[in-house]
Amino acid sequence: MRTQVGIVGAGPAGLLLAHLLHRRGIDTVVLERQSREHVERRIRAGVLEQGTVDLLTAVGLADRLRRERMIHRGLEVLFDGVGHRIPLAELTGRELTIYGQHELVKDLVAARLDTGRPLLFEAPAVGCADLDSSAPVVHFELDGAARLLECDLIAGCDGFHGVCRPAVPQSVLTEFHRDYPYAWLGILAEAPPSSEELIYAQHERGFALHSMRTPKITRLYLQVTPDEDIAAWPDERIWAELRTRLARHDPAWQLADGPVLDKAVTALRSVVTEPMQFGRLFLAGDSAHIVPATGAKGLNLAVADVAVLATAIEDWYATGSTQLLGAYSRTCLTRVWRVQHFSWWMTSMLHKAPDGDPFTARLQRAALRQLAGSEAAARAFAENYVGLPLTGGPNDSP
Ligand code: APR
Ligand code: PHB
Repeated sequence: MRTQVGIVGAGPAGLLLAHLLHRRGIDTVVLERQSREHVERRIRAGVLEQGTVDLLTAVGLADRLRRERMIHRGLEVLFDGVGHRIPLAELTGRELTIYGQHELVKDLVAARLDTGRPLLFEAPAVGCADLDSSAPVVHFELDGAARLLECDLIAGCDGFHGVCRPAVPQSVLTEFHRDYPYAWLGILAEAPPSSEELIYAQHERGFALHSMRTPKITRLYLQVTPDEDIAAWPDERIWAELRTRLARHDPAWQLADGPVLDKAVTALRSVVTEPMQFGRLFLAGDSAHIVPATGAKGLNLAVADVAVLATAIEDWYATGSTQLLGAYSRTCLTRVWRVQHFSWWMTSMLHKAPDGDPFTARLQRAALRQLAGSEAAARAFAENYVGLPLTGGPNDSP
């Protein structure tokens, strides 16, 4: 097969990039290892920054999102049994959107299929080659047969466990890594939200998060150990622990529970790969960086990457200039490290240190009190949480 831009991975990064390039008349082929059903059912996070929603709206991908989303203008930080609301919109003029990532992926898949351009499911890429030539190729399998995709450029949007990043010579890449000594046990439950906004709870037994998807579906998380056995967590134990960690002095507040629809344990780690480009291969999203879920940034960072990449690719085809392509990695990494710092800071402030170090606990307390008591601290938090404006979007000239 031949195309202009070969895109490996049909997650949010790959599908959005395909859409942005299609709007600019640039041809792409999207290869996805899993089935359509799998990618549309994969439960992940669901907090979208305003910049992400503005971009999706600008390129005609937000109709259902805008109809079905929940809009949040603040969130709550709960510690010592008292909730402290951070008025995000008041402090930044920007709001949050709650809309499941798998719902967004459904919309992106539908939009891609509407274009009639290739989106090949169950077509795993097995490797990339000739990356430093003018005709890089992706080796993939389809219907059990080995196939070849010839491209001008390759976009590695195949997540952390993909084949694109490993195709870059180790001598070129530097990987920055931080594994956190805890994980999240996350559930999706058929229960009405117990609060209108997200609740981030710091508790002596560990972190907890109350989030939601719809007026009938809640999403909740508990800090557990990295090697936690999910079999040790029957639903009733999960609800009991959530009630304990989300408890507050106000007896009127009760956590609504209900049937657990999905539960899984996910690791918390920070990973950054530098550079995000090698020859004609450009890494975007989780293939280049992973953030701990605490700041709800993973999806939004993937969107930010492809907004920059789409404009750089368009400029190359339109003018032959490699200036923006050459700046892609540097441009994205500035944002990636800002977001990494914020996510690491939030994670460190809200999670119980496994060694129970009393000095760390006091520092956490001081950071939480400052966030709850200082408008300047709340504004800095809010600016990071609602997200920095996107660069490289469709309306943003280079
Ligand atoms: N060939 C083809 N597709 C592949 C391959 C391969 N060898 N390896 C992985 N993939 C696919 C995966 O099946 C997945 O659908 O690449 C896609 C990568 O999508 P995501 O993991 O969702 O990554 P990304 O698009 O960068 O979105 C980042 O996803 O994991 C969340 O928290 C993360 O919200 C962030 C967002
Ligand atoms: C979610 O709704 O799944 C969610 C919300 C906030 C986070 C992480 C996940 O920080």
